[in-house]
Amino acid sequence: MLDIFKDIKKDLQAVEEELARVVQHQNPLLNKTSSHLLNAGGKRLRPAFALLSGKFYNYRLESIMPLAVALELIHMATLVHDDVVDSALTRRGIPTVKSNWGNKISVHTGDLLFGKSLVMISKYEDIPLIAKVLSKTSVKMCEGEIQQISSAYKSKQSIKDYLYRIERKTALLIAASCQLGAVACGAPREIYMPLRRYGYKIGIAFQIIDDILDMIADPKELGKPIGGDLRQGIITLPVIYALRNSPQRERLIKLVENKNKTGAEVHQAIELIRACGAIEYSNAVVDRYVNKAKAELHHLPDIPAKQTLFTIADFVKYRNF
Ligand code: IPE
Ligand code: MG
Ligand code: MG
Repeated sequence: MLDIFKDIKKDLQAVEEELARVVQHQNPLLNKTSSHLLNAGGKRLRPAFALLSGKFYNYRLESIMPLAVALELIHMATLVHDDVVDSALTRRGIPTVKSNWGNKISVHTGDLLFGKSLVMISKYEDIPLIAKVLSKTSVKMCEGEIQQISSAYKSKQSIKDYLYRIERKTALLIAASCQLGAVACGAPREIYMPLRRYGYKIGIAFQIIDDILDMIADPKELGKPIGGDLRQGIITLPVIYALRNSPQRERLIKLVENKNKTGAEVHQAIELIRACGAIEYSNAVVDRYVNKAKAELHHLPDIPAKQTLFTIADFVKYRNF
């Protein structure tokens, strides 16, 4: 478990046990595939956010448990599907479900995980906002992924196009995690809205860092190879910056738009992107979002969980996996 979660260690451990129980299945194959990714670890960021946000109102673990489990299940479902779409062979440092069992089994495993999240969400029949937010979020996540495919290999893109995608792909589920932990504990708007806005901004920062890491991380620490986004033609913030500011932009446009880049060409593109200050620029944008996220916390009471949310904001900025 991440150090930053030490204040919620016991409850996050309980969520872990519940997750392990929920992914069990009577079908032996589905039992194996759906627990595969869970066993590989992961940061458990979304359940942790739900627990921490619950601390701002009548905190009861039982009230948040199904939500925390549902959030990680939705996240895992998208990862299993994502690895099919991206033909990814490793995730969290081990082979993906896709690489071990192939596309068909992976699609059904993702659906199973998503279906199980619905079972969890159905426990909140007295709090319709939870189903409302999570269903809307799931629809938006799909829009983000589709937009990413439609815009692949297109070098003429704006930062607005990029933000549209990362909001949907990543930020909205993190926003929902921060909002709904409080909602599950019965918190009023004045509590859950600043938390939602904090989560949204953290989510944007989190994805920009993810996109930076895809160019500069140590693959061992990251748990997967780097350069994947460029190979797939995904135009991330450092690329958008470099396409405008690199002294070798003509060369970079060619590299980015090429659908069959060699490994050496992916490396060359990364070199050009790094050389023109695109990473520094992107880190500065992350800084802005992290600071905006922290500012949202000033609307909330001073409790220990608030300090943890500040610490997580900095963790997002400095993470290397
Ligand atoms: C990876 O999410 C995919 C994104 C939405 C950026 P995480 O970085 O939270 O993945 P795990 O759960 O820690 O593996
Ligand atoms: Mg993907
Ligand atoms: Mg990525």
